[in-house]
Amino acid sequence: MARRTLIAGNWKMNGLGADGVALARDVAAGASKVAAELLVCPPATLLARVAAALAGSAVAAGGQDCHGKASGAHTGDVSAEMLADAGASYVILGHSERRTDHGESDAMVRAKAEAAWRAGLAAIVCIGETLAEREAGRTLGVLETQLKGSVPAGASAARLVIAYEPVWAIGTGKTPTTAEVDAAHRHIRSVLGGLMSGADAVRILYGGSMKPSNAGELLAIADVDGGLIGGASLKAADFLAIAAAA
Ligand code: PGA
Repeated sequence: MARRTLIAGNWKMNGLGADGVALARDVAAGASKVAAELLVCPPATLLARVAAALAGSAVAAGGQDCHGKASGAHTGDVSAEMLADAGASYVILGHSERRTDHGESDAMVRAKAEAAWRAGLAAIVCIGETLAEREAGRTLGVLETQLKGSVPAGASAARLVIAYEPVWAIGTGKTPTTAEVDAAHRHIRSVLGGLMSGADAVRILYGGSMKPSNAGELLAIADVDGGLIGGASLKAADFLAIAAAA
């Protein structure tokens, strides 16, 4: 099953107008040289401007979170419909920083994924173990619980992407070994197989301190179908170098 590599940039809470638009333009300028699909996920305040800057390029725009409801009395929240209206085609859901900072549970992530699909967005559902869970030998079980709780019924490869992000690897410069990533991704695909049909076509991204120097090795793993890139997505040259390594 051929899966097109997806290299997604998670800008997190970084970027003001001029810099964000310039970064998006620089990514778009290099996109024709890479075979991978490219996606940038700016903060919500920049989404419409970044999407406009990317118009006509091969780079897609996405959100970093959405509410489960389409509209209503939810001060400070952004709905999936609003992200789509601003130019998004993807949304990252259940990132570990959302799970930690905002207490997002698997059930909340699942509701958000349903909202994303309702609005026509593809959902990038993030899962990953903490260091304590890994050291206790619980990694694969944790991933299985998160997947079963976070992925709604009716999933398809066109609208679901999974991102495996070990919490202890995010922003730390640490990465699991190739064998550990391989085992996690193979387990994720096998669990997905029990949750949906067509799991072979779902892209499973690795995230956590991916950078130009380690991207080639990580992206060569059979069930690694791309990357979710935080820090290194804030420099167009690094982000494009990761994509070129795919
Ligand atoms: P990082 O972040 O690349 O800075 O480790 C990845 C992520 O949190 O998606």
